[in-house]
Amino acid sequence: MNTLLHIATVRLLALVIGCQPTTPETAKAVKADSTDSGEQYRLVYHFTPPQQWMNDPNGMVFYDGEYHLFYQHYPDSNVWGPMHWGHAVSEDLVHWEHLPIALYPDSLGYIFSGSAIVDHNNTSSLGTDGNPPLIAIFTYHDPADENEDNYLQTQGLAYSNDRGRTWAKYEGNPVIENPGIKDFRDPKVFWYEADQNRAAGRWVMVLAVDDRIHLYESPNLTEWSYLSEFGENSGSHGGVWECPDLFRLTADSGEQKWVLLLSINPGGPNGGSATQYFVGDFDGTTFTNDNPDDMSLWLDYGKDNYAGVTWSDIPESDERRIFLGWMSNWQYGQEVPTYTWRSAMTVPRTLHLVKTEAGLRVASQPVDELYVLRKDSIALEATTLQGNRSISSQLTQPSPTLELKVEFDISEATAREIGVKLSNSLGEEVIIGYNLVDQEYFVDRTNAGETDFSEDFSGRFTADRVGEGDILSMHLFIDVASVELFGDDGTTIMSNIFFPNEEFTQVALFAKGGKVQIIGGEIYNLKAKV
Ligand code: FRU
Repeated sequence: MNTLLHIATVRLLALVIGCQPTTPETAKAVKADSTDSGEQYRLVYHFTPPQQWMNDPNGMVFYDGEYHLFYQHYPDSNVWGPMHWGHAVSEDLVHWEHLPIALYPDSLGYIFSGSAIVDHNNTSSLGTDGNPPLIAIFTYHDPADENEDNYLQTQGLAYSNDRGRTWAKYEGNPVIENPGIKDFRDPKVFWYEADQNRAAGRWVMVLAVDDRIHLYESPNLTEWSYLSEFGENSGSHGGVWECPDLFRLTADSGEQKWVLLLSINPGGPNGGSATQYFVGDFDGTTFTNDNPDDMSLWLDYGKDNYAGVTWSDIPESDERRIFLGWMSNWQYGQEVPTYTWRSAMTVPRTLHLVKTEAGLRVASQPVDELYVLRKDSIALEATTLQGNRSISSQLTQPSPTLELKVEFDISEATAREIGVKLSNSLGEEVIIGYNLVDQEYFVDRTNAGETDFSEDFSGRFTADRVGEGDILSMHLFIDVASVELFGDDGTTIMSNIFFPNEEFTQVALFAKGGKVQIIGGEIYNLKAKV
């Protein structure tokens, strides 16, 4: 199918699903006969909206000791609708304080995804004396009429001079007009220092345009000029490109590279929404990809990590590039069986560039701050494993919120599959494993409880192993209705949600079809963040 036509169709479908007149009464996924709010699936230590609909993380910026998290939010329903920016702040990326909605739709349209930065030098002149303003740059989505496929997208700006507590829209909005391209959105802005090519530093914006990236530059955040395009023949094009991010990352070998993150919907490796990335260089004007055009690299092979980007203005002394994604998928995000609220974010992760035999790859690690959640811990002894071995039974208290680290020596393994099984007394289960024959990780949620709300939900999903060698490690974060697998030091990631009819408090290690050597590990009961 012609790519643009394909994108238009896909987008239309996604938008039509989301754009029924959305009042709580008519919202598509409300169970008419349900007294069950879905609160039993509320994650305990992940970020969730207090109520109603949430999708992409937006405007993530660190300022004056606080991490800001804004998010796509429809406060009047549990499905997608006229978008606002919900808002929360945290001092440690774990404990979040909900704040009032920061940005409301206005005459220019809904407030779609975008970014925020600290304008340290007050280049925008929107700050007050000695007080750099916080600037949010987002997409205005103007639904021209009732037909949701008829819309106009432009870029807008808002600013705050009180630590993000209140926001004013810039009077000259939009700051970038639509050049006649339908899908034209999700600006991510960063400061690019002066270099040998240009005497002055400037702002750079990366924008998703159809299934391409456009780059813009600006001296002051309000006047933008077009720089270049990337992506016509690069990576996957199975759907529309959304939510780009571009940043420098130093590889573990010391090499400095640029990483371009890019969400794509549909076209993910296991169906629906997913985030691909490119490793290359940016010279202030153009991004060039180091890898062959037809190579697609995926940040996460799970079904549930979309539209993720990284925090701006993390202090240089911190040196981290911190990422957060929407832990859902447009295939079924609006139908999951939670009703008073919908969707969670992934755990915050740091991104790293690691050298592998195949080349430089982006690895993700859970942020260290999460370790404050650990309470009871149990060490896993070295042993030969065959069949199932319960480990949760050793905890003082059963818990659906756990962190688990386990290392296998696979050099002499005879098993076909090894891994971790979460289950309940109803016989429902989620299996997180590694298949030694196919040499791939997998997560199987076919028998994980409620799955029939969407035909795209159930399934066994796979991911190539990027890590190498005889020692295979799995690091899991389990939170009531989600599991995030960090395989081999975060070189293979799989994030998936699930909805069991009774909590998964039974955890077992397994080796199927033979034996495997366990080197050791740890299991921690995690406490609620409150
Ligand atoms: C990605 C996305 C963005 C858009 C926003 C609308 O999930 O489609 O491209 O700005 O969601 O809510």
